[in-house]
Amino acid sequence: MSPPNIIQGGMGIGVSTWRLARRVAQRGEIGIVSGTGIDAVVVRELQEGDPHGRRRVLAEYPDADIAEDLVDRFYQPEGRAPGESYDLVNMHGFDPSVRSQRILAATTFTEVRLANEGHDGLVGLNLLAKLKRYTLPCIYGALLAGVDIVSIGAGIPMEEARQIPKLAAGEPAALGLDVDTSQAPDADGAFTYRFDPADVLDDPPMLDAPLFLPIVSSDVLARILDTKLPDDHLDGWVVETPVAGGHNAPPRNKNYAEDHTPLYDDRDEADLEAVRALGKPFYLAGGYGSPRGLRFARSVGAAGIQVGSLFSLTDESGYPEGTTRRLIRRLHTGDLSVSTEGRVSSTGFPFKVLTAEDTLAEDEVYAERRRVCDLGYLREPYLDGKGRLMGRCPAEPVKTYESRGGDPEEAEGRACLCNALLANIGHAQRRTDGPEPPLFTGGDALEDLPLGSAEDPQYDADDVIDYLYGEHTPSRPSADPSAQAPRPAPAD
Ligand SMILES: Cc1cc2nc3c(=O)[nH]c(=O)nc-3n(C[C@H](O)[C@H](O)[C@H](O)COP(=O)(O)O)c2cc1C
Repeated sequence: MSPPNIIQGGMGIGVSTWRLARRVAQRGEIGIVSGTGIDAVVVRELQEGDPHGRRRVLAEYPDADIAEDLVDRFYQPEGRAPGESYDLVNMHGFDPSVRSQRILAATTFTEVRLANEGHDGLVGLNLLAKLKRYTLPCIYGALLAGVDIVSIGAGIPMEEARQIPKLAAGEPAALGLDVDTSQAPDADGAFTYRFDPADVLDDPPMLDAPLFLPIVSSDVLARILDTKLPDDHLDGWVVETPVAGGHNAPPRNKNYAEDHTPLYDDRDEADLEAVRALGKPFYLAGGYGSPRGLRFARSVGAAGIQVGSLFSLTDESGYPEGTTRRLIRRLHTGDLSVSTEGRVSSTGFPFKVLTAEDTLAEDEVYAERRRVCDLGYLREPYLDGKGRLMGRCPAEPVKTYESRGGDPEEAEGRACLCNALLANIGHAQRRTDGPEPPLFTGGDALEDLPLGSAEDPQYDADDVIDYLYGEHTPSRPSADPSAQAPRPAPAD
């Protein structure tokens, strides 16, 4: 059977929901849910009265104790009172408690299980390689829910690829951690994150290993993975250009403008012929979300395209309805643009930002937000002076970051993506000085949005798929239908 032509890309936190992935999979394409921050999404939903029926799915989860625990601790039948802040799960450490791992596995299970219901289509789980300590428990929960594909971006997921078959076999798995040991120079050098399925289930079953589809920015990375990994650990690639929504690969020349905009050049263009020559299916992502992009992908031997930006504004996405409508309307009236920010994300990767008002994209909103780090997904590991394995994030309060050995210059301009991305999907934490502000991301493709209109700012996943196959009449003609393939953003 030939692979589907369209992957709906994973979009965190909670943008590529199970509703979106399910609809895309029902259409015979690949729907990918996001595992990033999934524990926070699920426990916040439970506190909102469980609008999406997580309790029903948790009741089917084989680790019944943790499922019951989550419901007992977080479920609020009436939802939260106005202004009431959310209760948090304990932050997942670098040497975490088994309980914390079980929560990650259980919550990921719910997302994949819901996406998988009612069809035989393909559902994937997306994770970020940078967030290493979440990877293994999230994949295990997804495996228990019958996930078909694991896709990992933002890094080189070499070790991850080797761990997936172990998890499927119910065996312990481990990932090396890159720890800053400069404050404890005598410390032993190797640090490992460990996860054992036997800590979740008494008798871990033998599960089907999913396909593994890393997201790479260049043919060089694809070749490295292909050379170093056994053939059955790697099933293809998504090759993503820096015009894609979300995080982008840093420019290979390491050049940034004074305002921290990355300056890409020819070296950031993947050699697609070299990728094709590796002989595995591949998908093109980043500016390919159009009938023309799909035709081009097929013409260079790709299986198809991975699309995120267009899907992010569908009725099935995790954004509240009012948010998608406002964003679609403003994109059509020309009141919103897309910029590539080199500083904003603590990962150090460039991040696409929608310049929307009342979000952290506005200087005033950014300046007014009091720095708080209470979710910690992007914390990086370091050893403190006593040799303890700790985490720090350049978006946390600057003094705290400094006290943890961070360079205050690194902290400049960083935004708390954890809180902002949860605010985007309607789960803003309430602080004494008001709710956490959002910060939206989307690719360059949104600047010429072919779906919805200012008058009718709405469309759904079916509209996107029909449009990509050329079966939808766009509300606005695409700017230059004769143009060649989409290309990475050029350098100035
Ligand atoms: C709102 C949004 C969030 C995203 N989050 C992630 C993510 O968490 N992990 C990831 O690998 N890619 C992420 N992406 C990238 C998409 O999965 C996809 O590869 C990309 O959007 C394709 O290019 P396009 O934006 O031109 O459609 C995100 C994209 C968007 C628009």
